[in-house]
Amino acid sequence: MLFPHKHLISARDLSAADVEMIFDRSREYLDFLRLSDRSHDRKRNDLQGVSVVLAFFENSTRTRVSFELAAKRLGAEVTAFQAAASSVAKGETLLDTILNIETMKVDILVMRHHHSGAHEFLSMQQNRVSSSIVNAGDGQHEHPTQGLLDAFTLQEKFGSLRGMRYCLVGDILHSRVARSNIPVFQALGAEVAVCGPGTLMPNLDAFGVKIFSHIDEAVQWADALNVLRIQHERMQEGLIPTLREFVRQFGVKRHHIEQKPSLAILHPGPINRGIELEAEVADAAQSLILSQVERGVVVRMAVLSLLAEHRKGSV
Ligand code: NCD
Repeated sequence: MLFPHKHLISARDLSAADVEMIFDRSREYLDFLRLSDRSHDRKRNDLQGVSVVLAFFENSTRTRVSFELAAKRLGAEVTAFQAAASSVAKGETLLDTILNIETMKVDILVMRHHHSGAHEFLSMQQNRVSSSIVNAGDGQHEHPTQGLLDAFTLQEKFGSLRGMRYCLVGDILHSRVARSNIPVFQALGAEVAVCGPGTLMPNLDAFGVKIFSHIDEAVQWADALNVLRIQHERMQEGLIPTLREFVRQFGVKRHHIEQKPSLAILHPGPINRGIELEAEVADAAQSLILSQVERGVVVRMAVLSLLAEHRKGSV
C-alpha cells in the first residue's frame, strides 16, 4: 500500500493506519540499525537519487541531526542550510527562499520555522512548490515527527497504546510537541491528559483530554508522562508566578518515580534539569529520554522513505 500523503505537516492528518504504516517501517529500520555495528554497514539505498534539503530557521540539535542521519542512512543526497547564514537574514521572503531552493531540484524539504502555519502556507502554493514538505516544528503549532517518535517509543516498550493513560506535563500552551502528541496517541487508542498551570493551558475543548492541576494527581493517574520544557522564548509575559512555584506544583520529582516504579518518563528535550524534572528522574531506569532519541532516527527514516515512495507512485 502506498502512503497516502504528499507532505507531513500536521499529525492530525494521520489516520491510525497511516501511523501504523510509519511504525512498521520504523521497526524494520530499527532492526536493521541494531544489526549493523559499523557506520558503513548502517547505509541503505532506499533514498538513492532523492535529494533532501534541511532548512532550519530556528535552533535545533536533536531534530536536525536526527533528520540528517535518517536521510544519509537511506542514501539520500542531503543539504542543510542554517537560516542565520542564509539570505533570509538579508530580507528575502520565505516563499522566495524556498522557490530558489526548489529550482535546484529538491524532492523533500524538511523545515523548522518559527511561524506557526509556515509549512501549510508553502504546501498551498501547489503550482510553485513541488517538493514534499516535512514539518520539523512550526512555532507553537506542531511537530509531527516528535509525536510519532514518542508514540513509537512507548508502543515498542508496552506493545500497544490502547487504553494507556498518557499525560503531557508543563507548558502545554507553547508546546508544538503537545499539539502533535495528542492526535497521534488518541488515534492509537490511548487516553490522553494534560497537567500544567492554567495560564499555560490552551483551550483544549476540541481535543477531549483530561486536565490535572497538580503533578501528584497526574502521577497517580498516568502510565506514562511526557514532560515538557517551559518555552521562555515563546512567552511574551510572565505566565507563571515564579519558577520555584512551578517546580513545586508541576515538577516531576524523585519521590514520584519511587512511589510508582511502573511510570514511564518521556521528554522531547532539551531538558532543563531541576525545573520540569529533577536530574535523578531524567537519569532513572524509568526514563525513556535516550530511547526517544534513538527511535527518532528510525521514525524519520520511515517518514522520508514513505514520502519518497508516494512521490514515485509505486512501492
Ligand atoms: C522540542 C521542539 O523544538 O519543539 N524539542 C525537540 O524538537 N526535540 C521541544 C522544546 O524545544 O522544548
